[in-house]
Amino acid sequence: MSEDRSPFVENPTPPGPCAIVIFGATGDLTRRKLLPSLCNLAARDLLPKDYAVVGFAFDKLDEADFAKSTSDGVRALAAEGFDPAAWDRLAQGRLFFQQGDFEQPQGYQQLKELLATVDRQCGTAGNYLFYLATPPRFFGTIVEQLAAAGLTAEIPTALNLPSVWRRVIIEKPFGHDLESARELNRRLAAAIDESQVFRIDHYLGKETVQNLMVFRFANGIFEPIWNRRYVDHVQITVAETVGVEHRASYYDHAGALRDMIPSHIFQVLALVAMESPTSFDDDAVRDEKIKVLRAVRPLRDDEVLTHAVRGQYRGGKVAGEQVAGYRESPGVRPDSPVETFAALKLHIDNWRWADVPFYIRTGKCLPERISEVVIHFKRAPLMLFRDTSAANLPTNELILQLQPDEGISLRFQVKLPGITVRTSPVEMQFCNKDLFGSWPVTGYETLLYDAMLGDSTLFQRVDFVDTAWKILTPVLDVWQSLPPRSFPNYIAGTWGPKEATELLARDGRAWRLGST
Ligand code: BG6
Repeated sequence: MSEDRSPFVENPTPPGPCAIVIFGATGDLTRRKLLPSLCNLAARDLLPKDYAVVGFAFDKLDEADFAKSTSDGVRALAAEGFDPAAWDRLAQGRLFFQQGDFEQPQGYQQLKELLATVDRQCGTAGNYLFYLATPPRFFGTIVEQLAAAGLTAEIPTALNLPSVWRRVIIEKPFGHDLESARELNRRLAAAIDESQVFRIDHYLGKETVQNLMVFRFANGIFEPIWNRRYVDHVQITVAETVGVEHRASYYDHAGALRDMIPSHIFQVLALVAMESPTSFDDDAVRDEKIKVLRAVRPLRDDEVLTHAVRGQYRGGKVAGEQVAGYRESPGVRPDSPVETFAALKLHIDNWRWADVPFYIRTGKCLPERISEVVIHFKRAPLMLFRDTSAANLPTNELILQLQPDEGISLRFQVKLPGITVRTSPVEMQFCNKDLFGSWPVTGYETLLYDAMLGDSTLFQRVDFVDTAWKILTPVLDVWQSLPPRSFPNYIAGTWGPKEATELLARDGRAWRLGST
């Protein structure tokens, strides 16, 4: 249950007292995302007045080491435009560390004692936000151990609202397939209540992803045409220029489909396709999103062959730099069957979207880092221009650019000045940064802030995770039973395999950006 807060309040206030307990406190995620986000929240006075950060990790550090490494980490961010001074001021006496093994009860008992001390010293009132910044194989165990140590029990007041709250944030991947996702969800459900689980998807922390809802539902002009009568098809692209980087141990078992589609891309799809929620209450929004996923038509096995495309990059040049092929990357199996590119054609079987294809694609080592949603509208009736050079008018496109240049643009036709009728496409553009300026954000600030408030609107509910895996199961099964024979099948720095171009070409369409 969320506190009384609209996502669009102008002057947010700091959340109530709490301790943030980070499991995996010495890891990459903590350093790259969590500390910078806390630093940003501190700079905007959006950390609780009474708070503490407690690190939990296997590494044998003491409190002073942890405080030093945390402060050094935050200070290093100054170069990237963060304001570490605010954090330094607020961190005084508020950083704690507990060494422990994620799988052994002893560390959790010690954590419990430490948290009692923290409550006394920092006034954190027994409210704990546990952040599991650990490899996913520990999620179930940590939550079970926390519950066994009595650290997840909330204390309700007479009004039935918890006067002491305990929440757990977990990071994707939420399982590897439907079965493992269900197993994880079963373990979580046996230990804590679903209302205490905050499944983070950092895409939902991105300004422009959140803006999708505002754009659609705070404007009267788009909703009437946001349907099968006016929309020809929708494209969602999440393209990355990076390769597998240092993440082969995870990626070479996950691949592009598992890594990006059930979480980030399906969240974007749901925001684009959902009906208006009756309020911005967490469950009102999540109810609408899940309806979209439930309406996605499952692919039959034979359709997987025509509606799903996979690819793997070979060596090539990305942004002028030579990169090695995926199979030559450190930690990757030399004959790896794992895809670094995936594209799907999906249908949403409801009255709004019947017969409107949604084409989605994501990949590594593509020519540009760009995430965008493109709404392609139906062609105008062409009668008027039948006998002119304007007969082949391109369609109107509404481009919602999620990153890196967050903004919205609308493409339409105008007449070129002159005595004959010649048309030219032009673009009307809104660029977030130009209008509102920019400042360094990680995308985790809103999510951490919301979790402290207990607002789970931007977090994935269990049914979303389950349905997402259900949709993808036929693709995973067919791909598993038919190992790819053509890998590697695209050159790094190109827009994926030729089959991705053909996926749209067969329907007389083309991706907005590039092709092979
Ligand atoms: C992560 C994926 O969830 O998202 C990565 O595991 C991917 O493989 C990353 O690179 C992309 O995030 P962003 O914010 O850079 O688009």
